[in-house]
Amino acid sequence: MLEAESLTKRFGAVVAVSDASFAIRPGAITGFLGPNGAGKSTMLRLFLGLVHPTSGSALIDGRPIHEWPAPSRKVGAVLDTQCVHPSRRAIDSVRWAAWLAGVPTSQAETLLDRVGLGAVAGQRTGKFSVGMRQRLALAIALVGDPEIVVLDEPMNGLDPEGIAWLKDLLRRFRDQGRTVLISSHLLAELEDLVDDLVVIARGEIIGSGSATAFIDRFQPQTISVLSDKPQPLGAAVIEAGGEVIETQGQRMEISGLTSIQLGEIARDAGIVLLGLTEERSLKKAFSEATAKMTDL
Ligand SMILES: Nc1ncnc2c1ncn2[C@@H]1O[C@H](COP(=O)(O)OP(=O)(O)OP(=O)(O)O)[C@@H](O)[C@H]1O
Ligand SMILES: [Mg+2]
Repeated sequence: MLEAESLTKRFGAVVAVSDASFAIRPGAITGFLGPNGAGKSTMLRLFLGLVHPTSGSALIDGRPIHEWPAPSRKVGAVLDTQCVHPSRRAIDSVRWAAWLAGVPTSQAETLLDRVGLGAVAGQRTGKFSVGMRQRLALAIALVGDPEIVVLDEPMNGLDPEGIAWLKDLLRRFRDQGRTVLISSHLLAELEDLVDDLVVIARGEIIGSGSATAFIDRFQPQTISVLSDKPQPLGAAVIEAGGEVIETQGQRMEISGLTSIQLGEIARDAGIVLLGLTEERSLKKAFSEATAKMTDL
């Protein structure tokens, strides 16, 4: 389990992480979400021991990373895809990383196959595309066969096929009982991947826990409805205990009612519903949550 306890990191006057406390469930995929500059990379670096906390602690199974005898077996990370020497062959970069981690170098080929780079194992990495670099960095992160995989914005530069492939790989890690922590601001892409979320804005944790609970808290389901008589429908919705969030011409956004309740209300009032869409998205929940933060 990864745990932040009252974790603070200052860089001079900048507070990158401010009194953060949360825990990441083992065997789940957790999305670490936040806008640019929110403190995501700093937080991941704190867990990996690459920056030291100003106060508080970042613990992996109860201890800071440097107290684990074989850290690369505990955690594998992709923080930066420029981590290899451009004139080195892909296979040698992976072997080098394995050697540094003190694990057998014989798995290098298998690892490159696993990330879809088997065919280019002998090529120098200088001309690798962004997506190929992401894959190579992932192979390097896996050299110690780690229990926990930490990825900082790994979808950057991946095409849709690459993203689908990565998600599939991460789901397989989870199914093997591994813990995955993935940071991103590509919210829509995390939506069908993560079990849990930790949301950070301006260094502060604004929510953590199950992704569904987060969405419910910040964005209860809304219904967008198109009707022939919006005014009387709005009145009937309010009477039934619902809320009209917005009306634009024939379209209304409603919350507090299910679509079935709304259909019944319309039927009883003799109003025709021309269209109805249920809206529930991580993206909306996230912008709602960060907007609330800014208001504070
Ligand atoms: N080594 C450093 N020295 C000084 N300031 C830093 C350092 N690292 C991060 N910061 C500052 O800390 C804050 C958080 O940065 P961080 O990189 O953790 O955010 P992020 O959420 O990863 O952003 P992004 O989405 O852009 O990657 C920013 O204001 C940044 O400028
Ligand atoms: Mg970052």
